[in-house]
Order: sequence, then C-alpha cells, then structure tokens
Amino acid sequence: MARKFAPKYRYSFENMYDLDVALTFDDIILTPQSSKLQPGECGITTKISDKIQLNTPFISAPMDTVTGFRMAKAMARHGGLGVIYRNKSNAHEQLDQVKAVKRSENWIIRDPVIIEADKPVSYAQELIIDKGYSGLPVFENGECKGFVTMRDLPEFRKATGTVRDIMTPRSKFVTVTPDVTEEEAISRMGEEKVEKLLVFDGEQFEGMIVKKDIRNRRKVYPNGVRDENQSLIAGAAVAPGDHNRVELLVDAGLDVLVIDAANGGHIDVVNFTREIRDSYPTLSIMSGNVATYEGAMDLLDAGADSIRTGIGAGATCTTRMVMGVGMPQLAAIYEVRCAADDFIEENGKKSYVIADGGIRYSGDAIKAIAAGADASMMGNIFSGAKESPGEAYYHQGQLVKDLRGMGSEGAIKDGSLRYGADQKRRILAEGIEGVVRYKGPVQGIIEDYDGALMTAMTKYIGNGKIKDFQWGPTFVRQTLPGLIEGHPHDILSIKEASNYQGRQ
Ligand code: XMP
Repeated sequence: MARKFAPKYRYSFENMYDLDVALTFDDIILTPQSSKLQPGECGITTKISDKIQLNTPFISAPMDTVTGFRMAKAMARHGGLGVIYRNKSNAHEQLDQVKAVKRSENWIIRDPVIIEADKPVSYAQELIIDKGYSGLPVFENGECKGFVTMRDLPEFRKATGTVRDIMTPRSKFVTVTPDVTEEEAISRMGEEKVEKLLVFDGEQFEGMIVKKDIRNRRKVYPNGVRDENQSLIAGAAVAPGDHNRVELLVDAGLDVLVIDAANGGHIDVVNFTREIRDSYPTLSIMSGNVATYEGAMDLLDAGADSIRTGIGAGATCTTRMVMGVGMPQLAAIYEVRCAADDFIEENGKKSYVIADGGIRYSGDAIKAIAAGADASMMGNIFSGAKESPGEAYYHQGQLVKDLRGMGSEGAIKDGSLRYGADQKRRILAEGIEGVVRYKGPVQGIIEDYDGALMTAMTKYIGNGKIKDFQWGPTFVRQTLPGLIEGHPHDILSIKEASNYQGRQ
C-alpha cells in the first residue's frame, strides 16, 4: 500500500546536500482562494478521539502556570479542553483538580460533598461560603436526613449549634427519582420555587440536581463540552509508568488521559501507552510528544487515540538550543498527519493530531490546522488569562502573569519530571521562566481564535468544516522580506490590539 509519507535522507549526514527541508509557520503563507461561504456557514467542531468532540479546536497545555482546575473548567465551558498539569509526588493535588472540574456542572450530582448532622454550623458555613458549595446533603448514620444551604445559615448571628438544628429536613425538601427528565426537573423547580432537587431511589440517596447547572448548560455556556452525565470534560497529564495515578484519575471520571513526555519516541512512553490501552480499552488517550512520522506510528501502534505533536517549538522551550534536537513545527504536524492517515488506511482505526506549541498568533493556529492538526494545544497564549494559576501583578508598569516551561529550573525544583530531572548533580533545564501580558478572561482569547479561524476558513479559503480545511488551503513559501511585510510596519507607535501585540 502506498504510504503518504516517503522520508528521504533525513537520518544521515552521508547525503548532506540532499536533506529534506522542514518548514514552520513563518516560512509559509496560505493563499486566498475563491469562496462563496460566510463565517456563519462554518463549523469548527473537531474530534480528538472517537469519543471526544470539541466545539472549538483549542486545548490548554498541561503546564503549572497554564492549566489548573479553573482553566480546565473555563476551557470546557467555552468548547475546548484543559489538560491539568502533573507534578511529581502529589497525585491527590491533581486528582482534586480533576474532581473540581467534574463536580462543577452536572445533571445528577452523584457524589456531592456531604456533611454529618452533628457537625458544627461553623463548619457548614466554611464549606458553603469559603469553598463555594451551593448546598450540602446532611447525613446521619449513613442516611440522608436533610439539606443545608446558604439560606439556612445564620447571617448576622454567631454560628452556634449543629447542622441538625438548622438543616431543612428531607420531608420538607422536594425530591425526585433518578429517572426524572430534565423537562420534569425544570417544571418541578418552577412549581415548587426551589433551586435544587434531591434524588432518591426509595430510601437510597442518589444525588442532587441543581438549577444553576441546567441554566449554565442551556443559557450561559451552551457551547460547553460535557460527558454523558452533563459534567464538563477534563484532561490530565501523567508521567509514563505512573499506573497508580492513572487508576485514580480514571476513577475520578477523567475524560482524556495525556501521557506526558518530552520524547514520546522513547520505549518507556511507547510501552506505557500500550499498557494503558490494554488496561483501559475505551479511555481516550493522547500520547507524545513526537515530531516525526515514525514517532507517531509507534504511539499509534501502541494504541494512542491522538498524538501530541511538537518538540522544542514552545514559547518557553530550550530543547532545540540545549539538546540540538527538534523539528520545525509545521513539518512535524505534516508528518504526524501523514502517519495518522496511513494508520487508518492500514488498520482501519481513526486517530487524531494535536499540534502542541509554538503558536504566537491566531494565524499560526490556523496554519497548524491547515497542515493537518485536529486541534491546537497552547501554553503561552492561554497563560496570561485570568483563569491560569497564579495572580496577575505589575512588572515594569505592565500587568503580567508568570509563565514557565515545565522543563525550567523552577518547575523541575517544584517537581516537574517531564525534562532532565533525573540528572544526579545538576538540574538539566530544557525551558525558561518568564512573564507574559495579562489578557483577562480566557473567553476573549478563545473568541479571537474562533473568529479568526472561521473567517479564514470561509472568507479567505472556502472550507466550511475543519475536515475540509485540513490540507484544503494552498500556500506559498515566503521570504524574510515577505514575512516582515506581513507585520505592521512604518508606524511610529503601535497600539496593541487584543489579537496582536507586536512581533513575537
Ligand atoms: P506554547 O508555545 O504554546 O507551547 O507555550 C506549549 C508546549 O510547550 C512544551 N513545553 C516545553 N518544552 N521545555 C520544552 O522543551 C519546557 O520547559 C517546556 N514546557 C512546556 C509542551 O509541549 C507544551 O504543551
């Protein structure tokens, strides 16, 4: 069978003058094509596994200055995916973050945080006010006896007594059975003028239904990506070999497991991908990182659904400088797309390409998708958002947030194992630490990227679907003068726009 990809002499210095040329984003420019489409006639849904469909092709990277649970929740609400970072020793910290995303919106909340009836009122106050739980089922001897919400808490008095004294007893609470439909639940809430329903199967407490979740799903975040229980989807990164953490994450309802390694071509990563696939046949697995056709094929053979693609392209990466190894990002995406296409021809199994790193403008993400990516993972672009971990602060007169590579000295000291951490004497960093401009809520960033993608696809190229846009556009190579011409020029002072802050 004819494979799409035919490597030439990439692996040898013997044919020095015959080497392949690998291009990246700035080397090419998509050429305008005739089109009859309007931006509204465009769909940007995309799949990253047979099971998981996103409403926008953007994913936030598993980096400790990019994706904690707030970012993951916001990404899923706005149609994408957030991959929660890992760190060395504390599986439970990551697990709590995944649980927080899965808990944040639901249909029936099956395992709500509960409180025992004999706990002090001050403890209920702490959970409801400080931790933000909207209400707590109250349990006594393993049975649900009532419910406590903000309304039950003493507002201007000191909290005294136990939860039993202030709870609304089960008999006064509106209850439904687990087979209730969404429409029935909405009309019960309307009739009874309540915001929550407790779900009982006979005497057995099954969970609760919260009006805010239904409102979020239908009105506030209709573009959100949710699982079959209407919980937001979450991704999490794990180190090769960490079977225990995978088990904990899967039990917590994880939707996408990201096997997170600097070189996915290493035997440990390939073997781990195969072991996880054998243990969890239906789990959506993203594995990587690789940047070549062969690297991708190894991980696809091992059972990965999607391939995280990119070595050394990231804003904070120094791998190419320190190790002399990597691949220009557009070429890496092209090779991995070729592998995914050949894999389906040979094995009948569809697989997906995640372009990871190196995006500086929405135009780069658009080129990544045109080169064959199903989705674009970004660290730097999302790191300045309100929802990334850490606070914004002033630095040289500008509002900024911290960004660091997971292979930076600081990240390695704090337990990142993705790069060079097994060095005995010195930390062998493959990344840097820095600051980025604060950009406000991530929703604005996603809207800029979605809007640019839809406009490029419809007004400039003429493709209404991501599938058609992959390898759909024509392009030319451009020279450095061509690239310079493409940036604003000959302007005394540029006022920053939300989607362009000067030459990066
Ligand atoms: P961007 O450009 O979107 O890239 O910030 C995000 C991706 O960069 C990778 N990454 C690193 N690569 N050293 C590296 O060589 C590092 O310290 C480092 N930290 C992150 C990673 O693939 C991420 O998704």
